[in-house]
Amino acid sequence: MSKSKTSYVCQSCGAVHRLWAGKCDACGEWNSLQAEVSDSGPPKGLGNGKKGKALDLVGLKIEQSKPINRLVTGLDEFDRVTGGGLVPGCAILLGGDPGIGKSTLLLQSVCALAKKGLRCVYISGEEAVDQVRLRAARLGMADAPVALASATNVREIAATIEESKIDVLVIDSIQTMYVDTVESAPGTVTQVRTAAQELIRLTKRMGTATFFVGHVTKDGQIAGPRVLEHMVDTVLYFEGDRGHQFRILRTVKNRFGATDEIGVFEMGELGLTEVSNPSALFLSQRQPDVTGSAVFAGMEGTRPLLVEVQALVAPAPYGAPRRSVIGWDQNRLSMILAVLEARCGLMFSGSEVYLNMAGGIRISEPAADLAVAAALISALQGRPVPSEYVFFGEVGLSGEVRAVSQPDQRLKEAAKLGFTGGCVAERLSSQKKQAKIDGLQIHEVRHLDDLASLLREGGATPRLRA
Ligand code: TYD
Ligand code: MG
Repeated sequence: MSKSKTSYVCQSCGAVHRLWAGKCDACGEWNSLQAEVSDSGPPKGLGNGKKGKALDLVGLKIEQSKPINRLVTGLDEFDRVTGGGLVPGCAILLGGDPGIGKSTLLLQSVCALAKKGLRCVYISGEEAVDQVRLRAARLGMADAPVALASATNVREIAATIEESKIDVLVIDSIQTMYVDTVESAPGTVTQVRTAAQELIRLTKRMGTATFFVGHVTKDGQIAGPRVLEHMVDTVLYFEGDRGHQFRILRTVKNRFGATDEIGVFEMGELGLTEVSNPSALFLSQRQPDVTGSAVFAGMEGTRPLLVEVQALVAPAPYGAPRRSVIGWDQNRLSMILAVLEARCGLMFSGSEVYLNMAGGIRISEPAADLAVAAALISALQGRPVPSEYVFFGEVGLSGEVRAVSQPDQRLKEAAKLGFTGGCVAERLSSQKKQAKIDGLQIHEVRHLDDLASLLREGGATPRLRA
């Protein structure tokens, strides 16, 4: 019998260490090593001399007899994010903060699929069957033919999968599952990895599309296993601010579709409802003619999205002034402030600066730089930005404004929502060949100085190339 041995596994990246340390050498995370007992023995490799069976190699072309039928829920916001429906046999990891609505989203989706005649199984390791039933009743979905079970033992779940053909399976959550041959506790990297490995292998063989719910740690990583992200086909994040009712489903990785795609939902009394026009929603509470507010025309995946950027510049009474950001990158704000100071002579150093993306959305596109700069200049100078304008463009360290992708789609969305102008980065010549946007007055700015003078004069100026 093999000896068992204690090793220390990083709960963040999965690296295995022989001795305990305060910091993981592999990923730099502090306090992430946890003792796990494993059967020892060096890896044996292929050294036993037994010859394996050669593989059947096949061509790239899809065989005509087997077209892929994607499983479509009919919830457009959900289907778009999964790349147009679920592919049989795919493994999807859904991450998100506790209480954000992951279980609700998956229950609603499988109910929709079950109503279309697909065999759907929902396995909850966190809630009792009655709790899931109560939730379904609240969502008005109690009559959907979804098969429920409350279980955590992977061996039992595997037997269920093998017993009959399941089209869609939900494992809520992977951190509660355990494999009885592994000694460490549920939720540890070894357990999560082994459980996921077993289930993915089986569901791929049986052609079952599987959702794994994964918890997110406070710094936004799917808890424990980054390794899990490599094992699945698709990684989705469900995010949003708990104080707001909007929830955003975002694709981080997708082997069967585009990434950076988002679906927008609203959490209400009766569960999640789809928001098909999110720009209108994010701008619905905008006040016209206030200082420090500029509208950013962004792209989330294939979809344009308009968001209000809000800035506040306040005198700092003492000490180092605060810089606080919600929904954007703190380092990016520091950079824009430094560029505005060094290249345009606009002084923020004695002031506190607050920046907020209204509506609880998180923006990661560098294209938001120009809108942020406009909001900051407006807040500093106490002069409103023309409220019927949208902004986009990336700012470089010398203050130059760089072209961004898909300018026309951004402008079209702005025109659709009644905006009359755009202050945008100069488009590349290839982008100019595309369709003209009717009715929008477009100012192409090359430098933040151009933006500052446009804002000073409150509209069109001869210095800018329209
Ligand atoms: P849940 O799906 O349990 O979150 P997760 O699985 O991500 O932990 O969502 C729980 C929250 O959603 C809870 O705070 C209540 C809220 N909620 C509603 O507001 N309306 C509803 O119809 C439902 C089902 C939940
Ligand atoms: Mg849950």
